[in-house]
Amino acid sequence: MSVHEQIAEAQAEAVASIEQSNDLESLTALEPSLFGKKSQLGSLKRLMGEVDADDRASVGEALNEAQRIIREAHGVAKERFLSATRRDQLEAERLDLTESLESSPQGHLHLVTQTMERLEDVFVGMGFTVSEGPQAETDWYNFEALNLPAAHPARSMFDTLYLDLGDRTEIGDGQGGEATNILLRTHTSPVQIRVMEMMPPPIYTVCPGRVFRRDTADASHMPVFHQIEGLVVDHGISLADLAGTLNEFTAAYFGGSIRSRLRPSYFPFTEPSAEFDITCVICEGDGCQTCQRTGWIELGGCGMVHPNVLTNCGIDSEEWTGFAFGFGIDRLAIMRYGIKDLRDMYTNDIRFLRQF
Ligand code: PHE
Repeated sequence: MSVHEQIAEAQAEAVASIEQSNDLESLTALEPSLFGKKSQLGSLKRLMGEVDADDRASVGEALNEAQRIIREAHGVAKERFLSATRRDQLEAERLDLTESLESSPQGHLHLVTQTMERLEDVFVGMGFTVSEGPQAETDWYNFEALNLPAAHPARSMFDTLYLDLGDRTEIGDGQGGEATNILLRTHTSPVQIRVMEMMPPPIYTVCPGRVFRRDTADASHMPVFHQIEGLVVDHGISLADLAGTLNEFTAAYFGGSIRSRLRPSYFPFTEPSAEFDITCVICEGDGCQTCQRTGWIELGGCGMVHPNVLTNCGIDSEEWTGFAFGFGIDRLAIMRYGIKDLRDMYTNDIRFLRQF
């Protein structure tokens, strides 16, 4: 075999072995046999001395050309493997931002909580503090101290849920009431009592919170709902202060075109008592389906704190007078947003809640 044929064969074998390598690792392993002293071309180069002087130039040229071709094939293969590795790496480390957006969406406060916080803001802006009390109450705080003794007929105004504590009679109410009569508070008025027991007048506070009644859920009732109570006790407080405060609140919360009015009513813990209505927020007083064509919507109850209630809390009813009011938060929220069914607020369908 001539030297030229040997060179051609060495080149062909080297190129074939490059083409057969299938990753960077096997290509690297191949390098000594392509370029090293022990490579086929390397051995041929060592034979140069034995080549005839006339042929030396052409053999040298052929060797260089074969070397160039092998290097080029090696370079191309190496680049191909490197870019494949980079592609795999990019693929493996890719951050799927759309996916992380979907899997951890940012939540927000429930509509009722939002409404509660807005109401608190308005009252705090008017100089009120915010007070809270327990949801499981004693008979004393929920009824008795509020001038509703055991056999009082007005107790039927409240469909009460009592807790069955078995024989855990050690839970007392601290007021000499029936220890076993623990109930879920039916209104936020017990918080009034707790505030008056705890601090001396003057008192300007609101008490938002969850309340419970033995009611079947329907479009406008829930057995669990929310109220906000207001209590003011100071020197010389009159019904005019109550009416003025409710008017101020109504304008601040609903805007200037909505007004409030009082209608005589009855609550055992206030005397005189009233219901308070606001201009219908849907029709602004023109009369519509929501307000049953009256132009007004009933929001809650209110009145002057009954002297017995002040006395029950150790406050001298000759020296101090006060007013209280309470209304439902859930109903306010559904009215404001035109929600047809109260139950939608509590089925926790994220598609519904997400809107607010
Ligand atoms: N607690 C009453 C209710 O739930 C509302 C109310 C509060 C009435 C304060 C008068 C004064 O129906």
